Amino acid sequence: MADGFSLNDALSGPGNPNPQGWPAPWGNQPAGAGGYPGAAYPGAYPGQAPPGAYPGQAPPGAYPGQAPPGPYPGQGPPGAYPGPTAPGAYPTAPGAYPGQPGGPGAYPPPGQPSAPGAYPAAGPFGTPAGPLTVPYNLPLPGGVMPRMLITILGTVKPKANRLALDFKTGNDVAFHFNPRFNEDNRRVIVCNTKKDTVWGKEERQMVFPFESGKPFKIQVLVEPDHFKVAVNDAHLLQYNHRMKNLKEINQLGISGDIDLTSASYTMI
Ligand code: GAL
Repeated sequence: MADGFSLNDALSGPGNPNPQGWPAPWGNQPAGAGGYPGAAYPGAYPGQAPPGAYPGQAPPGAYPGQAPPGPYPGQGPPGAYPGPTAPGAYPTAPGAYPGQPGGPGAYPPPGQPSAPGAYPAAGPFGTPAGPLTVPYNLPLPGGVMPRMLITILGTVKPKANRLALDFKTGNDVAFHFNPRFNEDNRRVIVCNTKKDTVWGKEERQMVFPFESGKPFKIQVLVEPDHFKVAVNDAHLLQYNHRMKNLKEINQLGISGDIDLTSASYTMI
């Protein structure tokens, strides 16, 4: 492993028995070709929240043996390869942010202006500067495929009612992931598929890791038979593929009562 990071570290700590086996397929994977190590860290781009702002994220230098912070948290001195990434930090696979050299999504999605007066319309290598406008559409050129990891960082608004991720193929929704904060005074995550304007059978999850007013990280890992979702580094659910032509699932809609900091993907 090139950078010493293991998602195993992030997911197997106390309080997270991780029965669904996230570490094996997620961590300990060789980095893909052609990327730049160490750049894939929140806060590396304009408009992103400072390090430590997200659950499961470690402040720079918080762990013994870590290289002194470089220009980006968790990164070694300039010109060096990154030191060991602290537990709970983000994978440092190449291409983790759209527009990173060698990574997918080298161009910013069109028509996604940054907040007025915040930053120029694009960050380094065309990375959209945050915060991002919601609803937000993240193009997934070529569709989704096993080992594709989509990461969404944001903050739930106070008194939120709902948020949704919609992995789409045209007007159909292959995977709708819909946390509801108050459905008859209960909190529930509803997952479903919409084909030809008709919703299918809902899959419901009562484990609810989101909190109004709090930052979150959602990771969706595409596996051969299902989407696998973790929130704040803990496995949450799996959703079997109902639409099997993964290559046609080429848009991710992000909507609801959130402030959206970043939305990106990489291959692990
Ligand atoms: C409907 C709702 C949709 C979607 C769907 C999922 O009641 O209007 O937005 O969440 O449930 O089954």
